Amino acid sequence: MRILLIVSGSVAAFKALVFVRAARAAGREVRAILTAGGARFVTREALAAITGQPVHEDLWAAEESIGHIRLARWPDQVVVAPASANMLARMAHGLTTDLASTVLLATRAPVLVAPAMNPAMWEHPATQANAALLRARGVVFAGPVSGAMAEPESGPGRFIEPADLLAAISGPKPLAGRHALVTSGPTHEPIDPVRYIANRSSGKQGHAIAAALAALGARVTLVSGPVHQPDPVGVTVTRVETARDMLAACEAALPADILVAAAAVADWRSAAEAGQKMKKEPGAGAPILTMALNPDILATLSRHAIRPRLVVGFAAETEHVVEHATAKRLRKGCDWIVANDVSGDVMGGAENTVHLVTATGVEDWPRLPKEEVARRLAARIAEEFSA
Ligand code: CTP
Repeated sequence: MRILLIVSGSVAAFKALVFVRAARAAGREVRAILTAGGARFVTREALAAITGQPVHEDLWAAEESIGHIRLARWPDQVVVAPASANMLARMAHGLTTDLASTVLLATRAPVLVAPAMNPAMWEHPATQANAALLRARGVVFAGPVSGAMAEPESGPGRFIEPADLLAAISGPKPLAGRHALVTSGPTHEPIDPVRYIANRSSGKQGHAIAAALAALGARVTLVSGPVHQPDPVGVTVTRVETARDMLAACEAALPADILVAAAAVADWRSAAEAGQKMKKEPGAGAPILTMALNPDILATLSRHAIRPRLVVGFAAETEHVVEHATAKRLRKGCDWIVANDVSGDVMGGAENTVHLVTATGVEDWPRLPKEEVARRLAARIAEEFSA
């Protein structure tokens, strides 16, 4: 595979060198374009030494002015890493102000971007709108991830780990051509315009599953309640608030080959959502909330006229984990249940201890990081589809 790497201006640019080394070790051929911003953080000499190729910088250099179209045709994959806010903006608007942006407009190769910037810059509506535009055009995003930044600040904006970046563009794609629908996060059920019922779900597990399925080549639709997770690489995300919205978004996303219902859907909502903020009436005491049952998304889709071929539910249990999950599998009509023991700090935590309950038995998995649970589950799903 021939990778054309575009390095733009970010303090994370040194990690592009680590990526090149890993990519070449994995047998990839890499050529690099260094933008003026990128050159403030890594040198042309370092990039040339590590790619083993001359570095391309100047659109108007004699060689480049005839070479940019050839350069755009050369790669199997274009990787913009790190991608600065400015780079994303120029890509989104088709500006050709330098060699990198001109090649990006001229290439027909798939483009993957790994953004790296200050969290406020990443979260700015301008950047988010540019990212949405690029995603809609098929550009795949690897990161950014949350974590410590160069500034004493943390949040989404951090450059994805070079090994994860490499994984995002390589590896077998056993789920290519499959559509996976994943639910994630909590739902918010309004009581009045300012209050809602929710739960502690962070969306970590569901988002990790969406990413893991996408990494195996599936086209993934992630229907997520309100969470603070960044959108996973190459996944279409639909954001919803309530259980009823989540069901509608899931039904709109059908048909799908795979459903993984990882959301912690609120079982109940307020029966009569107040149109105005509920006020304290002197001497009236506390109001009584009447609740209504929410639709069961997993059970509904398990019995749907266009049911996904493989339906996987979750069961959060604090005792008799496997027994409860086995009963839940039959009750909900799904194929598999991922039963997790939530007696510890699973909700919002980084790790998960799960049992996979299928029609044929129970697999006990060790305590694992949620990303690893996701990778294993995606691999099991891929096995099912290759059988
Ligand atoms: N689920 C759903 N829609 C609901 C409720 C749950 O799709 N309204 C899904 C969840 O995404 C999960 C599974 O059903 O896949 C969990 O089932 P649930 O009956 O809510 O069980 P628990 O949360 O484990 O809790 P309990 O059995 O105590 O109700």
